[in-house]
Amino acid sequence: MCGIVGYIGSQREIKGFLIDGLRELEYRGYDSAGIAILQGSQLQICKAVGKLENLEKKCSSLVVHGFGVGIGHTRWATHGKPTELNAHPHMGEFSYVVHNGIIENFKELKEELDPSKFVSQTDTEVIVHLFERELERTSDPFQAFERTVSKLRGSFAILLITKAAPDTIFFGKESSPLIIGRDGEEIFFASSDAPLIGNAQEVYYLEDGEYGYAQKGSIRLFRGGEERVPTFQPLTLNKELAQKGGYRFFMEKEIYEQSDVIGETLMGRVKENRVEFEELDSRFFQGIESIRICACGTSYHAGLTGSYLMERLAQIPTTCEIASEFRYKEPLLRPDTLFIVISQSGETADTLEALKMAKKAGLRTLAICNVDNSSIVRLADATVLTRAGIEKGVASTKAFTTQVAVLWMLALYLGQGRLDQETLLREIDALLHLPGALKVRGELHERLKRLSKRYLHGHGFFFIGRDIFYPLALEGALKLKEISYLHAEGYPAGEMKHGPIALADPELFTIALMPRNLLYEKIKSNVEELSARDATICAISSIPFELADDFVKIEKQKHAMLEYFEMAVVLQLLAMEIAIRLGNDVDMPRNLAKSVTVE
Ligand code: G6P
Repeated sequence: MCGIVGYIGSQREIKGFLIDGLRELEYRGYDSAGIAILQGSQLQICKAVGKLENLEKKCSSLVVHGFGVGIGHTRWATHGKPTELNAHPHMGEFSYVVHNGIIENFKELKEELDPSKFVSQTDTEVIVHLFERELERTSDPFQAFERTVSKLRGSFAILLITKAAPDTIFFGKESSPLIIGRDGEEIFFASSDAPLIGNAQEVYYLEDGEYGYAQKGSIRLFRGGEERVPTFQPLTLNKELAQKGGYRFFMEKEIYEQSDVIGETLMGRVKENRVEFEELDSRFFQGIESIRICACGTSYHAGLTGSYLMERLAQIPTTCEIASEFRYKEPLLRPDTLFIVISQSGETADTLEALKMAKKAGLRTLAICNVDNSSIVRLADATVLTRAGIEKGVASTKAFTTQVAVLWMLALYLGQGRLDQETLLREIDALLHLPGALKVRGELHERLKRLSKRYLHGHGFFFIGRDIFYPLALEGALKLKEISYLHAEGYPAGEMKHGPIALADPELFTIALMPRNLLYEKIKSNVEELSARDATICAISSIPFELADDFVKIEKQKHAMLEYFEMAVVLQLLAMEIAIRLGNDVDMPRNLAKSVTVE
């Protein structure tokens, strides 16, 4: 998804800062990039299709010393192909703009403007021409920008620079994240924290409807024509955490980190004989009769797991839906329903819109999220943070396991009045064993590395499981297709005989999740049916399974959830090793974006 950076100052080399900043945003996915730097009346602009290295090469001759203002952008194509003309910054006659989001009324706005000025197929370009038209009318750059922003509909984070005010960056935000950072007289902009870490001392997260302008050492902020004072907060995040630390890929680092970060997720929440959430007031849940969970992608798989846990442990009827489906199904929403949204980024457009719908219908809303201050966190009535730290790999790993852990704890928190003491204590004991279950054992990783070479062909994978292992099967299949580009499907094991078993042959790879603590005999007979039809079976279990062609042995856990987490790690590593063997860029898979802020 698109990324934005901006800089005003003289303390650092602007080009270097902009490109480094864009590199921090690479993980979000992009297909072209560009920067523009203004020093007095001198403008330098550079754009390139593909990776940032292409941009770096193209602007290698561009040298900037002293004071200047600069903006940069990584674009993930929505309107118009990934070409250089469509890459940002977009140019008017003397102004330049970068934009994240979608301008929904760009066609109407374009009709008011001179069509001969447009060179790209993007919605963004309308902003810069509109600004220049307004400037002709008012001759005051800020007023022209204010008028421009007021005409835009949709979602946007915008930075605009112009020769008409060469020491200034104009900014605006609506439904797409934008942050201002500062350090003394230097001012920074970015669409997420990463480029600001190690640069800005303090940050301000812009709110929807806010716009304004920044000049060396000063920021003027407005909303609806009224000036406001931004309340900056220290940026305490650590750069170290955001880097690879010796692993081949961020994804690998993040898989290994799970055992540690889960400790953060549990910290202060799992007590000797109960679960507590400091951030939640128990009165918030009074009178709740049902739960609806909504999310996208991997977060949806965590949510689906959560729906089993809520019904079983909290004994509250719970459903889980894909946010993009929920939005348009005209859902019946009742005020005694708790609405839970799950999102790693807190910016996923469909999840955010589903949350807005639930709020509008008067439901109590709770966000399970990894990014504090994200749009979803700011909107929800209450939030439980997953505390996984920055996740850079596009394929989500530690965000997923921490989401499931939070849902498990939440189910216990809501159920602890009803559950008998023995069950509660058994669950708590299992929770405390989570770091161990998530630890990557060297020999297991080696085994999966070796095994991966046998799974590079075939006509498809079926990941099968029952109960909570069904959503885990969905997640295992998603991981594999995201990064290996092989076809994979997750399926409820008991449902295979109602259709998919017709595909069974030696080239059909079945990854069978066979926990000893949950429905083992049932899944075993489902796998036997497949084996009898000559499907190639890779069984993951602690109990050796003689019909398996390949067997991945996990530890003999005493609780199904511990098997769940250990198998989650196995599936992540298996997908990663297959993708590495196929020569793919595991951290930045083709066509995918880390954070999907458009519908
Ligand atoms: C994108 C990512 C997925 C992620 C999904 C939901 O599709 O590629 O990895 O699961 O968005 O993102 P969220 O930030 O809401 O969890």
